[in-house]
Amino acid sequence: MKIEKKDLWFIALIVVVVGIFLAISGKEKTKVVPRNDTHKEVYEVAYRNAPGPDASIFKRAFFKPAKKEAEKSCEPCHDARGIKLPPDHPPKHRCLFCHKLVP
Ligand code: HEC
Ligand code: HEC
Repeated sequence: MKIEKKDLWFIALIVVVVGIFLAISGKEKTKVVPRNDTHKEVYEVAYRNAPGPDASIFKRAFFKPAKKEAEKSCEPCHDARGIKLPPDHPPKHRCLFCHKLVP
């Protein structure tokens, strides 16, 4: 197969897209919500309505944890226990958007 100039552009485009993708995914180092005793209640609220292991594959594939519900408890508890956010912490509504739950 002869590679034409046109094809090279296409290959270059793919390289760039893949490169950007890797650059972005590498940045995701934000701490996860630890899966420990303190954060157990967060996981309980978020996964309260989780479909059981015998539910249909569709139900499980489309299940979303109740993040908005679970987020309500973050700040009150952190405040009560004196857990400070770093001074350069980004805007902090929607905690779970950045701090992922570990599955
Ligand atoms: C019942 C109290 C409580 C609730 C609710 C809670 N936290 Fe925490 N969190 C703590 C405590 C205590 C620590 C200090 C480290 C530890 O014991 O896990 C902590 C630490 C953290 C850390 C730092 C973990 C690390 O590795 O240093 C993150 C991130 C965090 N919490 C996110 C959240 C988010 C997001 C929510 C809400 C979805 C939340 N927490 C709800 C008590 C709580
Ligand atoms: C826009 C993204 C974003 C949102 C929203 C967000 N955070 Fe963070 N958070 C970060 C980043 C980035 C850091 C610093 C890097 C890291 O996690 O180590 C951080 C750090 C923290 C830490 C300190 C972790 C440690 O021990 O170093 C805690 C605790 C924390 N966030 C709690 C919260 C809580 C509670 C909320 C919701 C009220 C929240 N965050 C919302 C991005 C976010």
